[in-house]
This record gives sequence, structure tokens and C-alpha cells, in this order.
Amino acid sequence: MEKDSVKVNLGLRDREKIGNVLHKLLASTYALYLKTQNYHWNVTGPQFQTFHLLFQSHYEELAEAIDEMAERMRALGYFPEGSFRAFSKLSFIEEVEGRVEAMQMISSLLNDHETLICYIRENLPFIEKLEDGATADFLNKRLAVHEKTSWMLRSTIS
Ligand SMILES: [Fe+2]
Repeated sequence: MEKDSVKVNLGLRDREKIGNVLHKLLASTYALYLKTQNYHWNVTGPQFQTFHLLFQSHYEELAEAIDEMAERMRALGYFPEGSFRAFSKLSFIEEVEGRVEAMQMISSLLNDHETLICYIRENLPFIEKLEDGATADFLNKRLAVHEKTSWMLRSTIS
């Protein structure tokens, strides 16, 4: 992760550790964004319209979050690497290739949102301890969104 050449003084310790957490989260959120849009295009079956629109609302939300995440990294003094190569190295979201049946799409997306929830929750305590309130606020908002999305996906299964 490259950093700004001009000295950054935010009175914040371990900024790099926070930057690395955001970088990984950025790559993983981007991977989930692409997967969700891919499913929006390729879902089939009697519930086509419902899932097509549900996935669209999810990927649109993810796109906005990605931008905010990358810009938070810049505010901390780091350069996010925005390439597929970098993202696939950093992302912990499982890639799925080939045609997938609608309910498999749902369970795969649910699993990914829950993976993101666990990653954020695991990393929040040290970010809060370092008193990086802006990143912590953002991540708490991400938790609420991913938990809501998980609920919606889970509710289509049962
Ligand atoms: Fe579309």
C-alpha cells in the first residue's frame, strides 16, 4: 500500500494498520459488488424479477460504499490499488464461476455478507481503541447495512 509523499499528521497511531484493514475490505467489497451485479444479470427462474431488482439495490449500495471506503483510505494518507489484479490478491470473497442456480446465488451472497460482517467486527475494537472515530463510524454503518442485507437474503430462503 503506497502512502502520500507529503507528511500526514492526524494525531493517529498505527494509521497503516487501519489503512491495511480498509484496503482488504475495499477489495472484498468490490468482489462482492461484482458478484452481485453478475447475479443481477444472470439470475433465472420464476422469481427472476424479484431477485433481479433485489440484487440491483444491493450492488448499487455496495458501489457507493466502495467509493467512500477508498476515499477514507486517501484521507488517512494511503493510495488504494484499484485494479482487478490487486483486488483479487487482497479480497477474501470466494469467487464463483459458471452458471449458478438462483437459490445458490442467495446462499453464496449471504455467506459473503456474513464474512464481511465478521471481518469488520473483528477489526473494529482496535480501530476504536486507536480513536479513529471516522473510520469506526463508517465501519459501524457498514455493519448495519450488511446485517440488513443478510436478513433480506436469509428471508428469501425460509
Ligand atoms: Fe441492470
